[in-house]
Amino acid sequence: MDGSWNKLPTIIQGGMGVAVSNWNLANAVSRLGQLGVVSGTAIDTVFARRLQLGDPGGHLRRAMDSFPVAEMVKRVRETWFVPGGKEPGEPFRLVSRSTAEMKKAWTELMIVSNFSEVFLAREGHDNPVGINFLEKVQLPTMPSVFGAMLAGVGCVLMGAGIPLTIPGILDGLARWEPVELNLRVEGKNGGDAYALRFDPNEFVPVANRPELSRPKFLGIVSSDVIARTLARKANGHVDGFVVENHTAGGHNAPPRRVGKREQQPAVQDQAVYGEKDRPDLEKVRALGRPFWLAGSYGSPESLGAAVEAGASGIQVGTAFAFCTESGTASRIKDEVLRQCVSGEFKAITDCRASPTGFPFKLIVLKDSLTDLDRRPRERICDLGYLRQPYRDDLGRLHYRCAAEPVDNFVRKGGSVEEAEQKQCLCNGLLATIGLGQVRGDGVELPIVTAGQDFEPVNRMVQRAGVKYTAADVLEFLLERSTAQRTVAIPDHDLIRT
Ligand SMILES: Cc1cc2nc3c(=O)[nH]c(=O)nc-3n(C[C@H](O)[C@H](O)[C@H](O)COP(=O)(O)O)c2cc1C
Repeated sequence: MDGSWNKLPTIIQGGMGVAVSNWNLANAVSRLGQLGVVSGTAIDTVFARRLQLGDPGGHLRRAMDSFPVAEMVKRVRETWFVPGGKEPGEPFRLVSRSTAEMKKAWTELMIVSNFSEVFLAREGHDNPVGINFLEKVQLPTMPSVFGAMLAGVGCVLMGAGIPLTIPGILDGLARWEPVELNLRVEGKNGGDAYALRFDPNEFVPVANRPELSRPKFLGIVSSDVIARTLARKANGHVDGFVVENHTAGGHNAPPRRVGKREQQPAVQDQAVYGEKDRPDLEKVRALGRPFWLAGSYGSPESLGAAVEAGASGIQVGTAFAFCTESGTASRIKDEVLRQCVSGEFKAITDCRASPTGFPFKLIVLKDSLTDLDRRPRERICDLGYLRQPYRDDLGRLHYRCAAEPVDNFVRKGGSVEEAEQKQCLCNGLLATIGLGQVRGDGVELPIVTAGQDFEPVNRMVQRAGVKYTAADVLEFLLERSTAQRTVAIPDHDLIRT
């Protein structure tokens, strides 16, 4: 089997960056017949850092051994692998930041890292595995998707923007054709687009070419309007939708304005959502494509309600983010679960923290990790995944991030207001999975995100203890109905590539 679907999953384990939904978690979920999803966001840096730690367990080297182009893997390995691991006090070497030029070494790392993550998630079973990307992070998308497809990814899921041109890119890559993506570029006159090009044939010689299947494409949407736009205007087939509400973890859609002259609803920089932010499920259903509901749907009762509303199932994040297989560092997992049970922490929807401008769900932990919170977070942009391309007066491309030092950002045409309270999510999220950069005599501070609804996590801990597994989560979610485990897929939805 090539990992494509012949049945729709009832449960999608949500893609959670950076590497919270790693290959280990996705493998555990897919192995049990639901859809495990790895996160492709910043996976090149995750991969390069795992190699610099000596690749404990040899998993990445095992995955690379199956990559179709041995010379490419050799170059990647020679650049990043440190036998026995780097010294603990030594900083990680940085992957060069993404630019529109797509340098060869950068592109190869992107391809091999995405390949390896999907390869490992697929190892040992025949069920499909998905990969999640953010539409906002455009530069790595094409080589990343290609790497994932070389490993036989069954589904690409994308949100945080409207991914109108991704389905066509999947079609093109499955035929080994060069593909294009319009990079959004800010400029004095409102901005324009720069055509990024990627030719898979430049990286895999004809003799080494495997057959590529066109993965399913699911758009992650916050409203029926976006679902309709995707269904009508995308440049290829959209196989379905994850309809995610604002209580979900990670980035959320901004609240909709209630009236023309009213302010963006926000109280002390926290997003406030209203009736208008609820997707109209009747309208989503009318599009005639499978859909899954996400954001506080992590319980058997919610699964029942979702199916009743016409959904094929649910996408769940938070309950999986703290199970034993997830990438969240153990010390953070333990603390979150402890505080979850005692009700000590809170989740806020911060309108300012993310350089993307989207609201971002932040977990504010009490006491034990607050010494970390109190230390000032360094303004920095040395990873650059959330940088925004812009043109200077001469029309040349440059990049800026609202979390970089304010002076730099302003010199590049950004505003002080825009930079205010921004946090380096790239570094913070890497610290949360135990891959934080070494800085001076300390390590980068973690940023923890999760959904607003911790009830399912509480119930998991009560049932299975703090060391609950992905299998425990699935058993819990599916306990009400065995019929829900196998929702038949209509004929026209079967993958035919
Ligand atoms: C730690 C964490 C990281 C997340 N990162 C992403 C991401 O990178 N991309 C994405 O589309 N959704 C992301 N999400 C959202 C999940 O995929 C999922 O849709 C959501 O968490 C579902 O709501 P729930 O947490 O209430 O179950 C993230 C969620 C969590 C908890």
